[in-house]
Formats: sequence, C-alpha cells, structure tokens
Amino acid sequence: MYYMKNVIEVVGAAFIEGGKIFAAKRSYGSSYVVHKYEFVGGKVERGERGEAALVRECKEELGLDIKVVRLLGVSEYEYPDKVVKLAVYLCKMCSCFTVKEHEECRWIAFEDIDEERWAPADRGILRDIVHNFLPEYSLVTGATGGLGRAFCFELASRGQDLFLTGRSGDKLAALARELAEKYPDIAVRACACDLTDERSRAALFDELEGYTFSRLVNVAGADIQKAFVKYDEAKLTFQTRVLFEGAVSLTLFCLGRRASAMEIINISSICGEYPMPYFAVYSSLKGALAGFSVALSRELKGSGVTVTAVLPGAVYTRPDVIEYIKAQGLWGRIAAKPPAYVARKSLDAAARGKVRYVPGAANKLLRAFTALLPERLLVAFIASRWKKTQKDAF
Ligand SMILES: NC(=O)c1ccc[n+]([C@@H]2O[C@H](COP(=O)([O-])OP(=O)(O)OC[C@H]3O[C@@H](n4cnc5c(N)ncnc54)[C@H](OP(=O)(O)O)[C@@H]3O)[C@@H](O)[C@H]2O)c1
Repeated sequence: MYYMKNVIEVVGAAFIEGGKIFAAKRSYGSSYVVHKYEFVGGKVERGERGEAALVRECKEELGLDIKVVRLLGVSEYEYPDKVVKLAVYLCKMCSCFTVKEHEECRWIAFEDIDEERWAPADRGILRDIVHNFLPEYSLVTGATGGLGRAFCFELASRGQDLFLTGRSGDKLAALARELAEKYPDIAVRACACDLTDERSRAALFDELEGYTFSRLVNVAGADIQKAFVKYDEAKLTFQTRVLFEGAVSLTLFCLGRRASAMEIINISSICGEYPMPYFAVYSSLKGALAGFSVALSRELKGSGVTVTAVLPGAVYTRPDVIEYIKAQGLWGRIAAKPPAYVARKSLDAAARGKVRYVPGAANKLLRAFTALLPERLLVAFIASRWKKTQKDAF
C-alpha cells in the first residue's frame, strides 16, 4: 500500500568554538535516534520562523539564550516513518545552560567526531561543517591590494587556507578564483568589508564566526598624503580607522578565535619610525600600529601568539607608487622592493618570532642612519621633501 510519509520541519543549532562542536545526546525517541548525538533544536511550530523556533527550543531544552548568526545548510532525510527537513544555523551561546532533556551534552573536537554516533538526519550537514570549519585559516585584510595579494599568493604557495577581505566583493571573488585555480588544494573564502564602518565589521565578524585562525595579516591601508590643514573630517576618520581601528579590531576578534598557535602580522611602514610633516596622519598611525604590535607581543608572550610589525620602505604596488619610486632616482630603486619579496620575507620573519621587521638591507641602513640624526634636523629635511607631494585615497 502506498502512503505519504509525514514531512517534519526541524531546526538545529550548531555551536562551534575553537575547533569543537557542541553535541547533545538524545535520551528518548525512535530507535534510530535515541542515544545518538544531534544538533540542539526541534520541530518548527506552525507559523513559526526557523530562527524563532531555535531560540525557543534552546530555551526549553537547555535554558540557554542564543544568538542566531547565519544559516549553514538545509537537508532532507527519509527515516522509515517520516521525512525530516532540517535547517542548521550557526549560533552563539549567550548564557549558561542546564542539561534538562538530553542524556549528555559535550563539546567534541572536529577530529574526534564519529558520524555513526550522530542522528542519521544530521550527518550530511555535520560533514559539511567539519569540511568548512576544520581548517585553520590565515585572514588577510587588504587582500585585493598590491601587497595583500602578494601575501595571499605566498601563503597559498605554503599550503595555508585563506580567508580574504577587502572592500570590493567583485575584486575578492576574482582573486579567490585565481587562487583556487592555481592552488586547488587549499580552502579560499572571502567576505567584503569596509573596515572603517563598525556595521560592516560586525557583518564580517558574523561571517568569520565559527572559524579558527592561525594567522592574521593586517595589510589594509590608505596612504593619504598632504598638509594636515587640507584634510576634512571624512578623510581624517577614514584614514584613522582603516590604518589603526580596523587592524586592532580584527586583532581582538581573531584572538578570541585563535588556533593553538597564531601569528599576527601588522603592516606598518618605515614612515612609522619618525614624525613626517605633510604625511603626519599616516606616519603617526603607522607608528602607533608598530607600537601596539610590540606592546601586544609582550602581553601575549608564552601564549602561543606572536605579533610582528612589518615596516616596509616603498613597495612596487599601485602605478602611482611605482611612479613615486621612479621619481626618487637611484635611492628609490635601491630601497624599493617587489611585493612578493616583502610578503615572503615578512612571513619568514614572523615565523622566527621577530617583533619589528624592516624588509631590505637599504631600509635597515636608512633606519639606523636616521636614528642617529637629531629629530629637529630630520623633521626639517622630511618637510622640505614631502611638501611637494599630495595624494588622496578613498
Ligand atoms: N606600497 C608601499 O610603498 C607601501 C610602503 C609601506 C607600507 N605600505 C602599507 O602596505 C599596505 C598595503 O599597501 P598597498 O600598496 O598594497 O596598497 P593598495 O594596493 O592601495 O591596497 C590597499 C588595500 O587596502 C584595502 N582597503 C582600503 N581601504 C579599506 C577599507 N576602508 N576597508 C577595507 N579595506 C580597505 C583595499 O581594498 P579594496 O581594493 O577592496 O578597496 C586594498 O585591498 C598599506 O597598509 C600601506 O600603508 C605600503
């Protein structure tokens, strides 16, 4: 006799932290689910939205308050007596929980997951979750720029899984495609974000939730260069935020989602080494980023996290930067470096645990020489040279 099986709509919450997933073991139910692990959740009631059903179920089953972050996957599974339509959402715990209905609740490391011990309907999405969240990622900001791109290719050549961010979704998608074609064995994920905008950063954080990071490379920047009085408020907040606030904000976020070992690489500039008239905001912020990196590196000593401030001289990236290097004559050509060189050397320096790293012998020499000069003389010299250049960036 033919009969239609009942279709049941079910929602599940995936809590993922530090390479582990939260699993709840069923204490009752049909033979194929009892004593099996499952996502916390349950049936969606008539007229109820999936997210609301999850909030209700978590409260009922565990007394737990949650934040629903995003949908991870939808699947359909046919049991002997019913069809289960399951939607699993990535969620965050916002309170403590009490095991009320389950036999047991525990965090299981991805490596220790035994699919057979999970409810059959949950296994497909569980497999996808392990595939996506098991790798430890290197997060690169400013990935679509000249130097960021070089870091991405260098990291990919070292077999590192990548999470890319930049302002333009189209540019990121094109870069992710290029990387995936050249390095098919690594995972490449991308999410656009304007780092100067807190709401955009919050949306990026939601996208990054659940992942584990073994490296953060803060590359994003904007080199607005002009007399301070020629700034307006918009340009000032933009440059301040992208060069400093964005980097420290991502650093704090990633530290909370770090792998057992993590490298933080902050791209400062040789300009951060001294006050630069007509480049005052840029050079001060790069100096602040370097100072922050050194201080944080000391705070995190012994924790498995290293922090490296990279202070490059000129790097052949955008056409206007290349023009500028040419205009510097012989010294410009000696001191300037290709982005691939800076990326490779910086990653090597970070791996050695260097706290401040200046790429290139000429730049190291320049830094040593300027340290000997009286500040008044140095600043006057810089003022006379930089007075002539003016550059805007948005
Ligand atoms: N080139 C040099 O000579 C040199 C020397 C020393 C230090 N540096 C530093 O190295 C870093 C990279 O320089 P680069 O020459 O590669 O610059 P670039 O080609 O202009 O790239 C800048 C990157 O930053 C991103 N970005 C800019 N504003 C952003 C914002 N509001 N939110 C998120 N991302 C933003 C851009 O994203 P979109 O492309 O998506 O807009 C781009 O990916 C900068 O921090 C710079 O100060 C450069």
